[in-house]
Amino acid sequence: MHDFDDAPSNTSGNRPFTEVLEAAVSRRTAIVGGLAAATAALVGPSIARASGELAGAPLNDNVDASGASDSASDELVGFRPSANPGGPDPTISDDYRYHVLIPWGTPLFPGVPELDPEHVELNSAADQERQVGLGHDAIWFFADDDGRSNTSGVLCINHEFASNEHCLRQADPDGLDDVRRSQAAHGVSVVELARHDAMWTPVVPGRRNRRITPNTPVSFSGPAAASKLLRNTAGNATVGTVNNCAHGVTPWGTYLTCEENFNGNFGTEDPTWQPSPAQARYGLTSTGAGYGWHRFDDRWDLADPAYENECNRFGWVVEIDPHDPASTPCKRTALGRFKHEGVAMTVGRGGRMVAYMGDDQRFDYIYKFVSADDHHTMRAAGRSPLDEGTLYVARFDDDQTGEWLELSPRHPQLADKPIDWILVNARVAADIVGATPMDRPEWVTVGPDEELYCALTNNVERGQPGQPGPDAANPAAPNVSGHIIRWRDEDGHIGTRFSWDIFVMASDTHPDNGGNRAGAFSSPDGLWADPEGRLFVQTDGAQPFGNNQLLVADIARGEFRRLFAGVAGDEVTGLAVTPDRRTLFCNVQHAGGGNPDVTNFPVPGRQGPQVPRDATIAITRRDGGVVGS
Ligand code: FEO
Ligand code: CA
Ligand code: CA
Ligand code: CA
Repeated sequence: MHDFDDAPSNTSGNRPFTEVLEAAVSRRTAIVGGLAAATAALVGPSIARASGELAGAPLNDNVDASGASDSASDELVGFRPSANPGGPDPTISDDYRYHVLIPWGTPLFPGVPELDPEHVELNSAADQERQVGLGHDAIWFFADDDGRSNTSGVLCINHEFASNEHCLRQADPDGLDDVRRSQAAHGVSVVELARHDAMWTPVVPGRRNRRITPNTPVSFSGPAAASKLLRNTAGNATVGTVNNCAHGVTPWGTYLTCEENFNGNFGTEDPTWQPSPAQARYGLTSTGAGYGWHRFDDRWDLADPAYENECNRFGWVVEIDPHDPASTPCKRTALGRFKHEGVAMTVGRGGRMVAYMGDDQRFDYIYKFVSADDHHTMRAAGRSPLDEGTLYVARFDDDQTGEWLELSPRHPQLADKPIDWILVNARVAADIVGATPMDRPEWVTVGPDEELYCALTNNVERGQPGQPGPDAANPAAPNVSGHIIRWRDEDGHIGTRFSWDIFVMASDTHPDNGGNRAGAFSSPDGLWADPEGRLFVQTDGAQPFGNNQLLVADIARGEFRRLFAGVAGDEVTGLAVTPDRRTLFCNVQHAGGGNPDVTNFPVPGRQGPQVPRDATIAITRRDGGVVGS
């Protein structure tokens, strides 16, 4: 499934703005070394200071062989690093502990049975619709007491994907019942949580508990909401969200769930079907990711003429009110349609809402949306700040500046395109205006000094025959281990210029390259920056050793340290904290690839028949301190 997710579909031929200046290795040195001067002038002292640290000191050079720091007590990241033996069970720093909550199949309503991990096949579609789903990805904790409670709140969880082998214990669905069970494992869970002593548990019954699935009614808003590109001959209502990957949070307390590899949920058995150019650009194929929904549910059949635009109804950012279980999730078309990884929200100059968004595919782009007006003013007038504004796509230039290119008919190269076409086909519009193809943009997070960090997870196709070569912003070819790029937007996030640098090339953290085992990683994916200058990094892909992991970086020192390592075959994803930052929630996703011969997580060891279950874990410091310290 991951290979499927990653395959490039950008054949636009967009190349870096200027030709490559040097070989990749020497360029990287030049970028890092030259950044302090370049950014000091452009972006002010804080980013330049951090970059200077990166330029001057090898990573982790103050950490000894055991990983223990020589000045632990006053360090921002002072914990003892976790081991990462690569086995069937998680490991965590000796200074921390974790416990597991809400695994796949946890009942959310009274009278609903719990999924039996020894008999997954007995779970019904009706049960699954009222249990926690599968494929735990991004999460957010909405604390009670107007965001102040550290003991209760509601957790939103994205359920990104659920392979048939994992969810159904068979490769293909036998009928509509199997399809409905698979669908019910997808979408979003909204779960009330409460802490008693040190343990977090779901609250059942909980007034706000809710499942949102591919069959839940949804609405559309914004400039493309009434577009004929979103209507079907069948006249079917708009329902459902799929492949919910990363997330965003608004200042008005709503959750944004992002639809990523929606193409995998579609397919067709019609051998004469051919994708349109736009469908090909979005990676739609006859086999999809192998779910087979289209065989028993026509809505997902790409060749069914009655549902000709159903695929255009996915690939959006979806707003959910976690406090009102009767509310209708709303797809915000102004933010464009692509394979949305996540959406990092910040308030820009003049109170305007700004959303930074990655499109996770090899050679795809980074986007920004700026609301039309102050978000308070808009909401007071009954307008959503996510419905009116301007969408941009990024061009990263080799001189470490960049430009946000407007995706609207105001752009000369898009003047003949209606706005609904541009938003539904945002990838194609971005190709036309000359965006920079990136190495798989995953999460973006807003740093403590308002700089942005984006995980570029990897791209083994970079520099291969027929594919774009290296450029300053994506210097490794092939990019096996990924990197994290950083930029600072001019004009309080609402302008069209930015300056950037590479925060870290993941390969530089590897022991083979002089890095320390305590902080070595590849394939960065989940990111979250805390207000004190720590960057939390989660991984999804082959690591230098061991399993996928959660690391914490001291941003100013450019030093990474492993806090937690997951189980064989998993991915570690999702980051949310309580207001006091004493509890951190994150997820172990697709443990063992769903195979009980690899791990029985969360059942310890590898000895039983229990099918592994995705689960959220609650991480706390043993001394009750802030997580990450
Ligand atoms: Fe859903 Fe790109 O990770
Ligand atoms: Ca991801
Ligand atoms: Ca992932
Ligand atoms: Ca990933």
